Amino acid sequence: MARDDIERQVQEAARSFDAELHTRAFVETHSDAAQLAWMLSFLRPAPNQVILDLGTGNGYVASAVARQEPDCRVVGVDVAAQAIERNREQAREEGRSNVEFLIYDGIRLPFPDDHFDAAVSRYVFHHLPRLEISLEELARTVREKGTLVLADAIRHEGDDVDFINRFQLLKRDGHIRMHQRADFIDVVCRHGFRLVETFDSSISFTRERGADYDALIAKTPDSVLSAYAMRIDEQKMAVTFPILSAVFENLNSGP
Ligand SMILES: C[S@@+](CC[C@H](N)C(=O)[O-])C[C@H]1O[C@@H](n2cnc3c(N)ncnc32)[C@H](O)[C@@H]1O
Repeated sequence: MARDDIERQVQEAARSFDAELHTRAFVETHSDAAQLAWMLSFLRPAPNQVILDLGTGNGYVASAVARQEPDCRVVGVDVAAQAIERNREQAREEGRSNVEFLIYDGIRLPFPDDHFDAAVSRYVFHHLPRLEISLEELARTVREKGTLVLADAIRHEGDDVDFINRFQLLKRDGHIRMHQRADFIDVVCRHGFRLVETFDSSISFTRERGADYDALIAKTPDSVLSAYAMRIDEQKMAVTFPILSAVFENLNSGP
């Protein structure tokens, strides 16, 4: 991807998510208490630890980590500047001083080597324009033996027409690619991480219909639409995507 295309894609994500992240609809659709509890049980924040939330959005995970351990420090980074400002206000209003929010360029993490004890990134990997670099950055900034918790929507095994990616690209929110389960785990392990544990869940949401969605659905086999529990009424479509959450250990040694 050329540099201009990356900048355009990051700006598209920022614009789209700034409009959505703090809406009630987004919060309701993206909340998942069981999955959050599972992630926290592996992040296990301890006093004096520093924990990264990459693509923090409205701070759903970062705030939960900060609440769980008031003596750790949490850093949430995202490309959506207005959401970051709103998160800062909320943290001030709620008197949480152990969480900070930073805007970054979507590629290079502005932190020194071995800075974090653990990192988490939830529902973000399909947006990362340079996935290989983001993984190198996580390997670099998380200390050796530190924990990495990743969660993202994945392509259903029966989706042989890449419906999930075609569908998501129509939203124009900086979507790059949702992977199949094995590819998702492989690409992380290739960057020096060891898989520890996985957790399966799902996310269901609705979207307004339009001519481009109707055209895609018309040429998609019923078996694939059923795999994503697609339901369509006059105005809206409802779909369910599988979510894979995975815990990794960083096997990379320092610089
Ligand atoms: C579906 S939201 C998930 C937000 C949050 N992690 C959560 O669990 O609710 C995807 C997030 O990824 C962010 N994002 C998109 N492209 C990004 C990039 N290149 N680097 C970091 N964050 C990015 C968006 O701004 C948005 O906050």
